[in-house]
Amino acid sequence: MIRPVPHVGAMAAYALADLGGEGTISLAQNESAFAASPAAIAAGRSAMADLPLYPDPEWPELRTAIADVHGLDPARVLCGAGSMELIGCLIRAYAGPGDRVLGTDYGYAFVSSAAAQVQADYVKAREIDLTVSVDDILAAIRPKTRIVFVCNPGNPTGTLIPNAEILRLRDGLPGDVLLVVDQAYAEFSDYANDPAEIFALAVRGDTVVMRTFSKAYGLAGARAGWGYFPPEIANEVRKLLNPNNISIASQTAAAAAMRDQDHMKDVVFRTAGIRGRFAEDCRALGLTVPESHTNFVLLRFASAEDAHRADAALRAENLLMRGMGGYRLADCLRATICETPVMDRCLAILKGVLK
Ligand SMILES: Cc1ncc(COP(=O)(O)O)c(C=O)c1O
Repeated sequence: MIRPVPHVGAMAAYALADLGGEGTISLAQNESAFAASPAAIAAGRSAMADLPLYPDPEWPELRTAIADVHGLDPARVLCGAGSMELIGCLIRAYAGPGDRVLGTDYGYAFVSSAAAQVQADYVKAREIDLTVSVDDILAAIRPKTRIVFVCNPGNPTGTLIPNAEILRLRDGLPGDVLLVVDQAYAEFSDYANDPAEIFALAVRGDTVVMRTFSKAYGLAGARAGWGYFPPEIANEVRKLLNPNNISIASQTAAAAAMRDQDHMKDVVFRTAGIRGRFAEDCRALGLTVPESHTNFVLLRFASAEDAHRADAALRAENLLMRGMGGYRLADCLRATICETPVMDRCLAILKGVLK
């Protein structure tokens, strides 16, 4: 019999969202409900002519666009097949068997899976009111802690801590603990939270900042994410990346999307308007909805049973939200913000269930 190495054999596969059947409208994966920039789509299409060639492993057009828009040093930008690839490589480079990778109660679930791949222990610091608590993270540091992951804004909570709290976290961490600030949803809060303050942390040598094109830029299918790295850490991560990781079409589309900031900001603005109305309407039905700084909301029902009934009623109408049992939030559903008619349909169904 062919056997895997024991720790892989013992692992569960990473649980992606249920995709539903044909005709399903998915509000389960926090993809963008709005199309990507027309310039990005056109650029991606015309790059298809170059597909006989391997993609450039230096992502020159893409990293220049990212650096220009954010005022960063292109040499410190690394791009991944989604930020998932970069997260996986960071953990493989900086944690091994018996090391601790520290996240938070409701941090991004993939981090735990990536830690299991290298036999590191994934540990969670407490969140308070569904919000990251810097004091709890600092209290959870042990000699074996190698990496701290903080997702800001958080997924699945949507909550945000101020930049000053991230800076306080970095100052309180030992110098040999790598801090990864996962900002997959940060475009939805950049207007209120100066991104430069967090990117500046990567210059210190002990912090990596991650972003993605999968959310506000509407390019989840392109698999393009990026991070701002200290050079020494970038060198290690590069050894583990697939050297031709992002297709030519995706690199080209992502670069054009980055240069079309007006389109991205319009998506952020429209999302915020629909999100605000939907959250208020859900609160009026008696649900608890933390203020979201992302393209989704977390809906907390009075009981797990109510959440289950709502999920079933939505599914019966081909609408799929994400159950949160895996986060020990069985009384919650997470809903990606879609166009108003879809959110109105969801609301009508929730009203029917909760009346
Ligand atoms: C918090 C967080 N980080 C990272 C990712 C991964 O994004 P990507 O599509 O860039 O791999 C996601 C995707 O849902 C996410 O929610």
